[in-house]
Amino acid sequence: MSVSETHRCAPPAPSSDRPHESTADLPDDFVWGAATAAYQVEGAVAEDGRSPSIWDTFSHTPGKVDGGDTGDVACDHYHRWPEDLKLMRELGLDAYRFSLAWPRVLPDGGGRVNERGLSFYDRLTDALLEAGITPFATLYHWDLPQILQDRGGWPARETAERFGEYAAVVAARLGDRIHHWATLNEPLCSAWIGHYEGRMAPGLTDMTAAVRASFHLHLGHGYAVQALRAHAPGARVGLVNNLTHCEPASDDPADVAAARRSDGHVNRWWLDPVHGRGYPADMVALYGTEPPARDGDLETIAAPLDWLGLNYYFRNVLRDDPEGPFPKARPAALAKEARVTGMGWEVHAEGLTRTLRRMTDDYGARCLYVTENGAAYPDTVGPDGHIHDPERVRYLEEHLAACGRAVREGVPLAGYFAWSLLDNFEWAYGYAQRFGLVHVDYPTQRRTIKSSGRRFADLASAHRARARKAA
Ligand code: IFM
Repeated sequence: MSVSETHRCAPPAPSSDRPHESTADLPDDFVWGAATAAYQVEGAVAEDGRSPSIWDTFSHTPGKVDGGDTGDVACDHYHRWPEDLKLMRELGLDAYRFSLAWPRVLPDGGGRVNERGLSFYDRLTDALLEAGITPFATLYHWDLPQILQDRGGWPARETAERFGEYAAVVAARLGDRIHHWATLNEPLCSAWIGHYEGRMAPGLTDMTAAVRASFHLHLGHGYAVQALRAHAPGARVGLVNNLTHCEPASDDPADVAAARRSDGHVNRWWLDPVHGRGYPADMVALYGTEPPARDGDLETIAAPLDWLGLNYYFRNVLRDDPEGPFPKARPAALAKEARVTGMGWEVHAEGLTRTLRRMTDDYGARCLYVTENGAAYPDTVGPDGHIHDPERVRYLEEHLAACGRAVREGVPLAGYFAWSLLDNFEWAYGYAQRFGLVHVDYPTQRRTIKSSGRRFADLASAHRARARKAA
């Protein structure tokens, strides 16, 4: 019986009594990691020559972020990373996924390299390696230098070109030690949420700008792949998408078509071009805007990759909504028995298995990582000083079991990164939503490993012990 079946039928037994069945099917060399992103954890926004990013501008614009929160200090990871590295060791992580802040490295967006910014990542990388933790670096997790936004941002082709240059600078400096690279994190959020829905930086509400942004994000990805291949030979290069399993709320053909449109919007638009299939024609027709591709661009975008990353959080159950915004589909009401996280997201681990299967069966994936997965809950520090977060423990167990099932069904899954290592700045939600395996008390910056962090460490260590025994 799988962990999730156990959960459906009976309340969970105390974690420590349960066998580690959820991880039994994962490969012996499975990578156990945790992830963060620069703007969400680093703070130090005006230090050592960093220039403002679009998220500095956005978060400082009244009304854009809950509570008026900003990333100015965040988890102060820029200064406290040695302490955070100790936490990673205590959690037994094999790998740490982090992003580099483009405005730290190239404060003008291109051209002049800011040595002080780049050397932060140099120190972090060396220390990770010394601790036996593999760095997985992401080049872009949403913090575009504001100076490039002022020249047109992602809707402009120049931004893609500058991104390629930035990738070359970083790869030339760190490519001898960092072997796992992702170009972009969740371009869907940058393009759709940032340029069409306006809920994220740069806060535009313009479909044409969003389509152009999505295309230039892809093109920038293609240029970055070229740069990484040129400057970091042997690098394993990937791309991280947030994909969502989409299903219709009913058999009504209108709902079935709505689910298909939603799948186009959140999945196919992001997967097809990098697999050499171009942009899905049904979606181009729906948006009414052609991506501004020039000769050779689609080939650049479809450069072969070594791995794909999946950030998975929830599934989408959809109803037709002809009057609504793109993709003219809206989420159906959740079932009474559905569990939701603090974000209001349905907990649905089966959607993770299905999405991994989809990437394998429909797109021929040969190496996949779950590059983010996790849940926000309103954690509190107990009188004993501990953070007991049974819902997050259960969430992790169920999703790791879903990974195990996917592997059993033939998915080439190589690793799992919990989102997140630390509670951090959750974009438009500010600090109100806590995703960490480690609790952060923001006024004091005190870190405390949560019960979920301990459980994650136990699962990883039991898995490694089993793998050693089998060897
Ligand atoms: O915090 C974000 C992260 O930056 C990108 N993926 C989803 C997470 C939770 O919303």
